[in-house]
Amino acid sequence: MKLKVITSNPGKVAEYEKSLSQFGLEMEHLKLPYDEVQTADLEEVVSKGMDEIVSKGIRNFIVDDSGLFVDSLKGFPGVWSAYAQKTIGNQGILKLMDGVEDRGAEFRCCIGCDIEGQRIIVTGICRGTITHEESGDAGFGFDPIFTHDGERTFSEIPMDEKNAVSHRGNAVKLLIEELRTRNII
Ligand code: IMP
Repeated sequence: MKLKVITSNPGKVAEYEKSLSQFGLEMEHLKLPYDEVQTADLEEVVSKGMDEIVSKGIRNFIVDDSGLFVDSLKGFPGVWSAYAQKTIGNQGILKLMDGVEDRGAEFRCCIGCDIEGQRIIVTGICRGTITHEESGDAGFGFDPIFTHDGERTFSEIPMDEKNAVSHRGNAVKLLIEELRTRNII
C-alpha cells in the first residue's frame, strides 16, 4: 500500500520510508498546505488537519507536527516551534533561559495516520535538557541546544542514534505497534 506523506519537508518522507517500507508500506510525497488551528495541543493540530485533508477526498496519508516544550517557559515554544525557530532562533531561547536553573524540556512528535478508513494518532516524546550554549553542526532546528543524555546535543550524535531515542523515532514505534494491533501490517 502507498501512503501519502503530507509535508513541506522531504526529509520526513525519507524517514518514514526508512521505518515503514519493511512492512510493505510505500511513501509518496504530497505537498498540500492545510490550516494549523491555534491551540496549545499538538494532537488537536493534527486531528483538525486530518479532518481538512479528508474533507478534500484524500485518504491513506500521514501528517505530523512536532515541537520543543520547555518546562520553565511553561511549554513554550511548543506548537509555535517553527515560528520561534524562524524568529528568535536558538539564541533567543537561550536568552529567555538566561539564569534559569530548571533546564528540563521535551521534544514531542504527533503523527496522524489515515489508513484503510481508520484513524490513528500517536505522540512520541523525548525528555532532555536545554544546554547553556549551542553545540554541534549536525541536525536542524533546536538540535544544537537539546541534549537527551546531559552530555551531547542532538547536533553532536549520529542520525541513527538520534532516531533511536528521538520523539519522532518513538512516535514511529508507537505507530507501528498500533498498525500491528489493528492487523493492518
Ligand atoms: P514541524 O513538525 O516540522 O512543524 O516542526 C516544528 C519545529 O520544531 C521545526 O521547525 C523545528 O524547529 C522544531 N523541531 C521539530 N523536530 C525537531 C528535531 O528533531 N530537532 C530539532 N528541532 C525540531
